[in-house]
Amino acid sequence: MPEIKTLSEFIVERQADFPGSTGDLSSLLTAFRLAAKIVSREANKAGLMADILGAAGNENVQGEQQQKLDVYANNLFIRMMRTQGAVCAVASEENDDIVHFDNGGRYVVTMDPLDGSSNIDVNVSIGTIFSIYQRISTGPKATLEDFLQPGSAQVAAGYIVYGSSTMLVYSTGHGVNGFTLDPSIGTFCLSHPGMQTPVDGTIFSVNEGNLYDFSPGVQHYIDSCKKQKMSARYIGSLVADFHRNLLKGGIYLYPGTQNAPKGKLRLLYEANPLAYLVEQAGGMATDGTTRILELKPTELHQRCPLFIGSRSMVEAAMKGG
Ligand code: AHG
Ligand code: MN
Ligand code: MN
Repeated sequence: MPEIKTLSEFIVERQADFPGSTGDLSSLLTAFRLAAKIVSREANKAGLMADILGAAGNENVQGEQQQKLDVYANNLFIRMMRTQGAVCAVASEENDDIVHFDNGGRYVVTMDPLDGSSNIDVNVSIGTIFSIYQRISTGPKATLEDFLQPGSAQVAAGYIVYGSSTMLVYSTGHGVNGFTLDPSIGTFCLSHPGMQTPVDGTIFSVNEGNLYDFSPGVQHYIDSCKKQKMSARYIGSLVADFHRNLLKGGIYLYPGTQNAPKGKLRLLYEANPLAYLVEQAGGMATDGTTRILELKPTELHQRCPLFIGSRSMVEAAMKGG
């Protein structure tokens, strides 16, 4: 029988990667692990809650008001972090402002608690994305400055994909490792050690409905993908599209348009964490001209165009095919 390594064993083992570490980061990852299992459970019964149990007045059997899964996931991740203590403040897609814990924690976290929310009701893969930074301000409370660090300052990043199986993929800057949840024992097991993305690929992922709003260079690149008979794959959940392309080789593009020059995706909790992971896996991420991890954020919820995936495909897209 092959050796089984659980995520908790792996986290403890890898603590040695950080000389002098206090174990805060490890216990934070442990908090994410638990939140991931709970969201996974809720995601698996989302259809049941909405269509059967909650049909009358949006109340579940206990008479509790139903929450949308993205609000549920947001509250859960925040609660887990608040209890755990290593994080002093969080910036989430679901909160306009920074959420402070006032606990002296050394880290700040940015997160998209539920990515792909339009796919919840239709039983398609969704995810969670997170980024961890060391706090740099020294006052009593975290400040905006702590969150506006460039992506290159991340100390860890990861995502959870709630798909045909639930996977947690993360990096602390020493490669990327993926863990699959075995629901029969409720444990994440190392299934994808040392993930590397192919240098080239044959998948392009873009919302082609926006094609005529893209720049001529991007249109030309998409055209060249088709001429090479590449495969078009677009789920509409960034995490799931990214995860597939990471494993198989491909590019995900969400370019800017005339009306939305910065595209749709958010720098702090979508582009940056995935850019960190893709680089750790040997891939590349840019906004069309600049490396994502070098962008200097100016606001919490700022958007940026995203070209991410296999190195040679991202390079080709930047050149316009
Ligand atoms: P979220 O559900 O967190 O708001 O993110 C949705 C994002 C991303 O996951 C996805 O790739 C993209 O929106 C899809 O956008 P389009 O529907 O415009 O293609
Ligand atoms: Mn999202
Ligand atoms: Mn979201």
